[in-house]
Amino acid sequence: MFAHSPTATAEVLEAVAAAGPAVPLWAKLSPTVSDLAEIAGAALSHGAEGVTLVNTALAMVIDTERRVPVLGSGPAGGGLSGPPLHPIAVRAVFDVRAAHPDATIIGVGGVMTGRDAVELLMAGADAVQVGTATFRDPRAAWRVLDGIGAWCSSHRVRAVRSLRGAAQP
Ligand SMILES: Cc1cc2nc3c(=O)[nH]c(=O)nc-3n(C[C@H](O)[C@H](O)[C@H](O)COP(=O)(O)O)c2cc1C
Repeated sequence: MFAHSPTATAEVLEAVAAAGPAVPLWAKLSPTVSDLAEIAGAALSHGAEGVTLVNTALAMVIDTERRVPVLGSGPAGGGLSGPPLHPIAVRAVFDVRAAHPDATIIGVGGVMTGRDAVELLMAGADAVQVGTATFRDPRAAWRVLDGIGAWCSSHRVRAVRSLRGAAQP
């Protein structure tokens, strides 16, 4: 799990950058760390053009009838996604934006509505990704986009860009 270590994150980014991919290099980072801003800094200073925050959080669900772990790969635990992850994602984006004002940040985690996306933008995201919601509704991204538009209209916000980092002190 290289994204749990600043050193390993830097090494992976250096190796990928050296391979010269003709695509933008964004590092997808884990929220299950004590200092995400440090790991984001390691990625950004070793070739990442942006960071995507966050991956699933390490978690476990136990089937109490069968007495076995059932989330993800069972005994190895799994990844928590969807609405329970959202406040963790908002905090992660907020902290990394505060530490890296010029970084490109893609916010992801439990975005189900336009308001959820607005929250990530206000925390400091430049763009928002929709994951789990698309399993329930393949058109979720369009629904979220419409929701952002509706939120902006009802709050007299003319440019989505103006929301970026709006909750930062
Ligand atoms: C079934 C599933 C598979 C996933 N596979 C990957 C993956 O291969 N690579 C990756 O970076 N993130 C993966 N993720 C994490 C998502 O891209 C996303 O970061 C996370 O689920 C939080 O967003 P969400 O709550 O909108 O799903 C996966 C998530 C789920 C639920």
